Amino acid sequence: MARHLITSAIPYINGIKHLGNLVGSQLPADLFARFQRSRGNEVLFLCATDEHGTPAELAAAKAGKPVAEYCAEMHAVQAEIAKGFGLSFDHFGRSSSPQNHTLTQHLAGKLYEAGLIEEVTEKQVYSNADKRFLPDRYIEGTCPNCGYDKARGDQCENCTKQLDPTDLIDPRSAISGSTDLEVRETKHLFLRQSQMRERLSAWIDTKTDWPILTTSIARKWLNDGDGLQDRGITRDLDWGIPVKRGTEDWPGMEGKVFYVWFDAPIEYIACAGEWAEANGLDDAAWERWWRTERGADDVRYTQFMGKDNVPFHTLGFPATIMGSGEDWKLVDYIKSFNYLNYDGGQFSTSQGRGVFMDQALEILPADYWRWWLLSHAPESSDSEFTWENFQASVNKDLADVLGNFVSRVTKFCRSKFGEEVPAGGAYGPDEAALIERLNTRVREYEGHMDAMEVRKSAAALRAIWVEGNEYLQNAAPWSTFKDNPEQAAMQIRLALNLIRFYAVLSTPFIPDAAASMLAAMHTEDDSWPDDIGAALETFAPGHAFTVPEVLFSKITDEAREDWQSRFSGQRS
Ligand code: 2FM
Ligand code: ZN
Repeated sequence: MARHLITSAIPYINGIKHLGNLVGSQLPADLFARFQRSRGNEVLFLCATDEHGTPAELAAAKAGKPVAEYCAEMHAVQAEIAKGFGLSFDHFGRSSSPQNHTLTQHLAGKLYEAGLIEEVTEKQVYSNADKRFLPDRYIEGTCPNCGYDKARGDQCENCTKQLDPTDLIDPRSAISGSTDLEVRETKHLFLRQSQMRERLSAWIDTKTDWPILTTSIARKWLNDGDGLQDRGITRDLDWGIPVKRGTEDWPGMEGKVFYVWFDAPIEYIACAGEWAEANGLDDAAWERWWRTERGADDVRYTQFMGKDNVPFHTLGFPATIMGSGEDWKLVDYIKSFNYLNYDGGQFSTSQGRGVFMDQALEILPADYWRWWLLSHAPESSDSEFTWENFQASVNKDLADVLGNFVSRVTKFCRSKFGEEVPAGGAYGPDEAALIERLNTRVREYEGHMDAMEVRKSAAALRAIWVEGNEYLQNAAPWSTFKDNPEQAAMQIRLALNLIRFYAVLSTPFIPDAAASMLAAMHTEDDSWPDDIGAALETFAPGHAFTVPEVLFSKITDEAREDWQSRFSGQRS
């Protein structure tokens, strides 16, 4: 039995994610986790909320809540939505957990001992009114280049000139609008990633099987300009993990916290500790997933993320754990995704453009979204959600091909033989030929799923569904029944077995519909069809079933048009 550690990029706490975020990390990670579990492998699938940083503080302030309370509430909201989408995390943790505090401080201490942390004194803008240092993008003013009066301290969005906050004319705080700003000296810690360039580069060179998207981004960062830059890992904020070396205070770093991108990936490890605690397990239980000397050597670790996250996962996080000199497990495979666009543009949180996860579940069941998103995953290039395509895909693939098969077979059987599997003799040559074809297709499906080729997996699964329809069309038990009811019974027996077989194979994509199919077939046998012939003999004659409710309803043109206008971002 193989052991798979699987993590999805952890979503920011502020706000609900859109479908593009979902398909870029959590959903394909869930597909892979469910598939590996179905194959009988041991899986630990982890995700969490990414809770630190200025955006979280500002969102809490906007909501009029203390930041800890805001994060606790939003974590619960995100966990509930994840459940609604059938995301089968073994644990959905929080980067603000005590485990992550301890581990982040521990690793910082190890990096310091290894000489990989440098203390740097910098000048930074302080807002007396806000009583805080302001990150560059929270300082606004007039652009010295074009005169635009809402230029940000890092860049003018009007003329795109890169700026320093001190370049701005009439600078003010973007938080309070106050102009009572001054430049103060402040000390920060830098992770000396540049020292690790060769080691990281050699490690990336060994990853010849990784997607090009992943390695090309890593190489670009390793080789561009002056190469890998040292990276500031502390911030002057209140909310975050206090800067310490292990359990000791860090002189000169009082009141500072680690930068959100330093502690977020460490949460992948800490989350395993949270999982163990939540399940009453000891440290050995999670360390066997994460410490090579304690059993993690034979773990296969796969990470899922959007392309914008790749630099932090190919360089930043590996630098942290390699640099610690400890035996932490390094990632074995990084599956990264391009972007999903929305109906001729981009998803936009501020304009309410596109479908967000909570809205999606309000209008249709999770499986409809899962199927469309996975079968159109932005793997080799960016892809686009359009309502026409979504409607066509749901109506054809789910309703016409799969749903209709289940409905026809169960209803025909009920009307001619009753609600139990009929007998009707042994399978003949047509059935043997079908089994042969299914064998080829299932092995192909397994190969794509193992390789995390998401779109190809969806196409292979659909082809398996189509085989059943074609078989039924050719066998035509409704005609056979008149002259040869025995033969019609045998054909329907096979088709009823196909329903269970489809449910098992489809679970990673559409878990709720698959569960309804198993329930309709009165079975809990969800064993993977290693032997197709045997799998299609699971139900003996006499096995009872129930005709299920409609599995998938078609999307009407009217509904499609209504949603199209509702999510266009035109209406408030
Ligand atoms: O892009 C994002 O949504 C980040 N919150 C991802 C963090 S992934 C990791 F580092 F934990
Ligand atoms: Zn400008």
